Order: sequence, then C-alpha cells, then structure tokens
Amino acid sequence: MDLQALETDLLSRIAQAPDPATLESVRLTALGKTGAISQLLKSLGAMSPEERRVRGPEINGLRDRIQTALAARRDGLEAAALDARLASERVDLTLPAPPRRRGSVHPTMQVMDELIAVFAEMGFAVAEGPDIEDDWHNFTALNFPPDHPARDTHDTFFLNPGPDGVAGLLRTHTSPVQVRTMQKGGAPVRIIAPGRVYRKDYDQTHVPVFHQIEGLVVDRGIHMGHLKWTLETFIARFFETDAVTTRFRPHHFPFTEPSAEMDVQYERIEGGIQIGRGTRWLEVLGCGMVHPRVLANCGIDPDEFQGFAWGMGVDRLAMLKYGIPDVRDMFAADPRWLAHYGFSPFAAPNPASGLS
Ligand code: DAH
Repeated sequence: MDLQALETDLLSRIAQAPDPATLESVRLTALGKTGAISQLLKSLGAMSPEERRVRGPEINGLRDRIQTALAARRDGLEAAALDARLASERVDLTLPAPPRRRGSVHPTMQVMDELIAVFAEMGFAVAEGPDIEDDWHNFTALNFPPDHPARDTHDTFFLNPGPDGVAGLLRTHTSPVQVRTMQKGGAPVRIIAPGRVYRKDYDQTHVPVFHQIEGLVVDRGIHMGHLKWTLETFIARFFETDAVTTRFRPHHFPFTEPSAEMDVQYERIEGGIQIGRGTRWLEVLGCGMVHPRVLANCGIDPDEFQGFAWGMGVDRLAMLKYGIPDVRDMFAADPRWLAHYGFSPFAAPNPASGLS
C-alpha cells in the first residue's frame, strides 16, 4: 500500500470538499469502520514486531495528519457558512421603512404644528405649563371667584390632596399658562400656549382629554382692533383663504372684559367646510381683553399695560379643516383611521412650502 499516494489523494479531496456532507463522506472513506486508514490500522495486528515498529508510526502519523486536515477543513466550512448566513440576513438600517408600515402624524398634532407655524411667523413664541395645575393658576388668578358657578362649567378632575393637604387638579384649559408666563416674564408678552386639557365629559362632541391653544398679547396701548386683526389674519392663513368674514358675539369669561366668541362665515362642501364664503356661521374661539384684575394678579400694572387673549380647541379645528366627523375617532388609536387621516412626518408645516 502506497501511504504517500493515499495521503495525497485524501488531502486533496479534503481540501476540495465543498460542504460538510462531502467532507463527512471523505472522512468515512478514510477513518470509517471500513475506511482505508482503519484497514491499515487493523493490519498492524498481523505484522511481525519488526515490521510493526516501522509501519506503526507511519500509519498512525498518517491518521493524525488526516484528522488534523479534516478538523481544519470543517472549521473553514463552518466559518464560511456563518459568513454566508450573516450576509444573507444583513439588515441595512439606513433603508427607508416599507411604505405599508410607515407611521403618520395625527391630525391634532398636524394642526398644532400648523398653528405654531402661522403664529411663529406673526412673532409669537410658544409657552408651556404643567398638565397638573393648582386651583390658583387654573381658576383664582384668572378671576374665577371662589364658589362661582363658572368653576362648575369646567367639570374638573381633582387629584387626591398631597401631604400639605392641597389637592391638585388636571388643568381644564390652557389659560393658566397665561398666568405663569406673565408671572415669570412680566410685560410685554406675545405667546401662544398649545397643550392638553382635561374635563369630565364624554359624548359625541366631547372627550375627557383634548387639546387647546391659548394666545396672549400684553403691551402698552393694546385694544380690540389688535385682537380682531390678529385673529382674522390667523384664520385666513390657517384655512389658506384670502378673505375671511368674522362676527364677534358678546360672551362671558371671568378672565376677559369685554369677552367675545368669534364666528367665521363658511359653507359646507363635500367632506369638509369652506371658510370665507357661504351663509353659515361657525364658532371657532373665545377671546377678549385681559381683565385688569388678571394682569394685577400676575404682577403687571393694568394702568400701564393692556392685553388680549384667546383660546380654542385644536381637535375641533382639525376636524373642521380635514372633514373628520366624530371626535371619539380622534382618540381611538385605530391604525386604519390614522392611515387615512394622518400626515407625512416628513412634510412639517411651514409658511414657505404651505401648511398641509
Ligand atoms: N379658557 C377658555 C375655555 O377653555 C377659552 C378662552 C376664552 C381662552 C377666552 C381665552 C379667552 O384666553 O380670552 O373655555
């Protein structure tokens, strides 16, 4: 038996084995029960001691070298298989998400962004306040007298009293942000305050958590003319129309005097409304001149400064602008609804490219 020829043959078949199964069959032909090397090892028993002393190390050496070559080739094939699998399962995180699984911006948040874009261009800053308020900021500072029935209209969620015995509440409107802003920065002020508000109310037109945006301007010589121009200009830009006809109806809010509700003329069109024409009136916001007592409560001299303020429901504006029929759907978190009414996160509203 030519050991050299056998070794050369086995080594070349091991080196060329393309996969683990082929390598295993090569192993069996060499080291299996009836393999060539196993046969050689068995033949040692029939040899004379002299012959065995020569052939033994030759055959055992051959077996060791073949085993080493087999193990090395197996390692190589396993590493190659792992590389191939890693390559085939590679995820490119820089690729865009598949369109069907794309997220979208909720109409309320879209309208928030639109309102912020409109008012930012008019020189308003964005102010914020806490969702958990206290009675003083939510009511008292805003000139709601204690035990006044106006407090009841807000259906307040009260929290359990803290260690100091004082019960916080979930703010019923964004108006307390007016108070905090004036207390902190004094006059003049020109801010909007978008945010979440809470009332115990639930039916086809009311949900217990909704969104408002507040506006406040305080400066010297401020009057109703400033209020009217600001709000009409805002409505025209928000609804992207040239002409807006408004009507100011007298109303009552404790924190403004005089107070009004602003209506805009509109007509119904398929799936939505058209502002700026038509014969119907749509109530869009509450507004008024800041009550002198509110200015004084916030440390501003009402003899030197005047202000106007307004507040409106953002969800309702979104429903009007985008023809959404039921406010409860706005908070149902149904992905089909969002896919239909949602907006692209990559198209942030701005005055240059348009709002929506
Ligand atoms: N805070 C009022 C509400 O939630 C809305 C409002 C009315 C805000 C008139 C104002 C305002 O700033 O001047 O019902």
